[in-house]
Amino acid sequence: MAARERRGVLEARIHDDPGRFRVLTGDRPTGPLHLGHYFGTLHNRVRLQNLGVSMFVVIADYQVLTDRDVADRLTEHVEGLVLDYLAVGVDPGRSTVFTHSAVPALNQLLLPFLSLVSVAELGRNPTVKDEITHSRQSSVSGLMFTYPAHQAADILFCKANLVPVGQDQLPHVELTRTIARRFNGRYAGAGASVFPEPEALLSDAPLLLGTDGTKMSKSRGNAIALSATADETARLIRGARTDAERHITYDPETRPEVSSLVLLAALCLGRDPREVADEIGAGGAAALKRTTTEAVNEFLAPIRRRRAEYARDRAGIRRLLNSGNERANAVAETTLAEVRAAMKAHY
Ligand code: TRP
Repeated sequence: MAARERRGVLEARIHDDPGRFRVLTGDRPTGPLHLGHYFGTLHNRVRLQNLGVSMFVVIADYQVLTDRDVADRLTEHVEGLVLDYLAVGVDPGRSTVFTHSAVPALNQLLLPFLSLVSVAELGRNPTVKDEITHSRQSSVSGLMFTYPAHQAADILFCKANLVPVGQDQLPHVELTRTIARRFNGRYAGAGASVFPEPEALLSDAPLLLGTDGTKMSKSRGNAIALSATADETARLIRGARTDAERHITYDPETRPEVSSLVLLAALCLGRDPREVADEIGAGGAAALKRTTTEAVNEFLAPIRRRRAEYARDRAGIRRLLNSGNERANAVAETTLAEVRAAMKAHY
């Protein structure tokens, strides 16, 4: 609730003085980004970037190993993420895209950070608890248990003060604030600080459901990927779950599946979902699916076109990642030097 109210205040400040903000956001490279990501976070990142906020985007490759033994098809997924970012408008001239495994100084921050949190605190993290419940692993790895502290390193290595996230990431931002505060308290001189206490910028995106009526997710086969073809998109929407009532309305509480399709069409059309539902009305599920398919395919067409263009230049993608990693390394090394100086570990 507090984070939601805070959003208005933060948005006003960002508009007044975007140069005061540095954003860190990111994704695990586990598969292609989909429409849920687009309306949930991607369009917001591009908006902030275009307002002039300094932005770092982490491709969190180590974090893939939290709920699986091997990071499968990692290179493909990392390159795919870069393509998705470029296609939606992330501009590598203005934003730094990097993989955290390629930035040793970032990872070294994990050690002092871990010393600042208790095992009990790590164990209370509701997002981690939920992920442990849903993971198919037979035991909980040390990485699963501690990755929120690693995520704090993702955020603090570049001294980000703003983290645009969905609800599920709030506990991690809270832990990051705790770590920053404790580090400053323990090691920075009186009145001085090494790290800012970053704030979460909670997204106002309404929840999009997958085509089976559950949360849209890469791993559930219910998501429309940005990179899907128009035919795949049509097939997914044709197979989407609806309900027995013929007349189409927008009522997310009582008709979640139908309403999610209406919402998807409305988001793509930039219109109010109630209006879209009213127009379809007696046309029923068939008309709803037709409208949604057309809206999605039209909306994604330019994004898909740009993605296909970038995909032709694989060497260009590698160059871009290399230069992002180089920039991130320079920033991380400066921060680590400050951390070591504050800890009197400068030899
Ligand atoms: N945990 C995030 C997710 O699963 C990905 C992530 C890694 C991240 N490091 C981050 C998000 C730092 C925000 C800030 O989506």
